[in-house]
Amino acid sequence: MKFETAAVHAGEEPLTQTGKFGDVAMPIHLSSTFARKVPTEPTEGFEYSRTGNPTRLALERKLAAIESAKFALAFSSGSAAETTILLSLLRTGDTILASDDLYGGSRRLLVNMSSNFGLRLLFSDFTSPDKVKGAMREKPKMVWYETPSNPLMKIIDIALISEMCSEAGALSVVDNTFATPYFQMPLGMGADIVLHSTTKYLNGHSDSVGGALITDNDDLHEKLKFYQNAGGAILSPFDSYLTLRGIKTLHARMPIHERNASSIASFLSGHRMVKKMYYPGLDSHPGHAIAKKQMRGFGGMLSFVMDSDQAAVSRFLGSLKVFYLAESLGGVESLIEVPALMTHASVPENERNKLGISNSLIRVSAGIESETDLISDLKDALESVAD
Ligand SMILES: Cc1ncc(COP(=O)(O)O)c(C=O)c1O
Repeated sequence: MKFETAAVHAGEEPLTQTGKFGDVAMPIHLSSTFARKVPTEPTEGFEYSRTGNPTRLALERKLAAIESAKFALAFSSGSAAETTILLSLLRTGDTILASDDLYGGSRRLLVNMSSNFGLRLLFSDFTSPDKVKGAMREKPKMVWYETPSNPLMKIIDIALISEMCSEAGALSVVDNTFATPYFQMPLGMGADIVLHSTTKYLNGHSDSVGGALITDNDDLHEKLKFYQNAGGAILSPFDSYLTLRGIKTLHARMPIHERNASSIASFLSGHRMVKKMYYPGLDSHPGHAIAKKQMRGFGGMLSFVMDSDQAAVSRFLGSLKVFYLAESLGGVESLIEVPALMTHASVPENERNKLGISNSLIRVSAGIESETDLISDLKDALESVAD
């Protein structure tokens, strides 16, 4: 199946999996438990809804299909999926090597769990192969990164890092939330586990919080599945239904997100109130060539630094009429935020300053509204604070 067909159909088999009615839209199976005829044989493989649920299973099959993978597991949030990786696959004394630019909540989780459970956590700039090569000498058990990264849109060479990981015997985890499988498939480039906050583009309508782990490796899948059930941070049937529904239009939405992001990036790059742009689709982006090699589009996320103080940034944000000032991303509506004060407020200030996450850095999630309306909204708001 091609991506578009898998997005619509995979995981849902109206005349078999969902029973006798032939529902074209997957029903929301709310039952917490499933009756059986004999103690040793669960009906159709379902026994208790934490362990397995028909609506969640349909979503898990769809998630695996769109990442061209064998297995997928759905969780109650992206963060719950991350916790499951750490609990399932690491032991006290293990080393995690993580890229320096990560969603603030992911960094917070890595830092806290490492200190609580005696893991060694190292950060490195993954855009520098030499730095990663040096860090590999520390023999990490796990290597963890996002590309494009949040919020600085760093592009990391997945094939190169995968090769280094397999030489070093490290497992690699790639957070594919920003790109989605529509634009990038890390498993095909050698990654071991793909992580998603399905809250974002996969659900796509800002009305569900969820996460997913996807792999081709039987052993990793079994370990992760064990903790999905034992830890219990599962996606609910209703959220599974919403995410199934959202994925059906992923391929219809992503090109519009990208077109709008690209137009916004071009507009902002030429504006006198903008000091620096971060969008991998721009020729000037340092990761542009790698993005071209490993992605089939540059995505709908961008960041920029305003040439003004925090008060003017606040006035600019307050003047916007179409964009919502809100955390999160990947929904049909355009969102804008200040990472240092919002999504990345949990990253210590000195770390933020080292990375370049200042109070004037603004992150944009381009929605699917009219490009003209989005640009004129930004233009008017920038003009309203320009000297
Ligand atoms: C790149 C990335 N990964 C993971 C997460 C965590 O996902 P969730 O908010 O669904 O727990 C986020 C949330 O913003 C994110 O942006």
